[in-house]
Amino acid sequence: MGKKFLFGTNLKMYKTNSQTVAYVQQLEALTADMKDLDGNLFVIPSYTALSDTKACSKRIRLGAQNMHWADCGKFTGEISPLMLKEIGVDIIELGHSERRHVMGETDADIEKKAAAAIRHGFTALLCIGETKEEKDAGQTAAVLSRQIRSALKGDYPTEKIWVAYEPVWAIGEEGIPAEPAYVEQVHGQIKEVLQEIYPECGDTIPVLYGGSVNHENCVPFANLKHVDGLFVGRSAWEAESFDQLIRKVRSAALGFER
Ligand code: PGA
Repeated sequence: MGKKFLFGTNLKMYKTNSQTVAYVQQLEALTADMKDLDGNLFVIPSYTALSDTKACSKRIRLGAQNMHWADCGKFTGEISPLMLKEIGVDIIELGHSERRHVMGETDADIEKKAAAAIRHGFTALLCIGETKEEKDAGQTAAVLSRQIRSALKGDYPTEKIWVAYEPVWAIGEEGIPAEPAYVEQVHGQIKEVLQEIYPECGDTIPVLYGGSVNHENCVPFANLKHVDGLFVGRSAWEAESFDQLIRKVRSAALGFER
């Protein structure tokens, strides 16, 4: 494959431990022939599935959907970096739209979580995205810039940062898939912000696209110059469907070996 390209899925609160293990085993078997996917394919299940999934996965990278910033403390119901580290998780998803808009997570929370994730050597997958109202008010660039700058305040190793652009209005059953031209424009703006924060190597931070990615739009999105990966929800939750989507991108998208 010519272009380094990431494929990942967040399983949200859909699969139990045994369902996740079965899913990951099937996905590994289906994708076994795509050797260059190693390191570039990740799955983010529920906390309760992390340990068993880690034990059964050989090639797929494992992420957590959230993490508290403190190593330990009086935080009932929270999960700490040390707990995730012990399991062998290597990606921490931060600021998914549902965390921000359903669970009330703020930029300040995400800043602390990003700092903790980096401090503990995880890859921080920072999710950003504007609401429909913000888009209609012409505030997209300002909102995304604020979300990025508030989360990435430290002098962080850029190889430990991934960004996922997921417009809130494009996610889930009710989501309206974004137009590729819009995604390309916004990813360009995100990359400019990353370059301003990290002048030396901001351009090496992968920016993934997510939000109603499916079998029809995966190739147009993957072909965009500023899209470095796809972060898929519903279309990835059956292993066969995710495998087919990956194959479609690899066989049809520009920059990929056939
Ligand atoms: P979706 O989910 O692909 O089902 O829209 C994307 C996400 O929430 O990450």
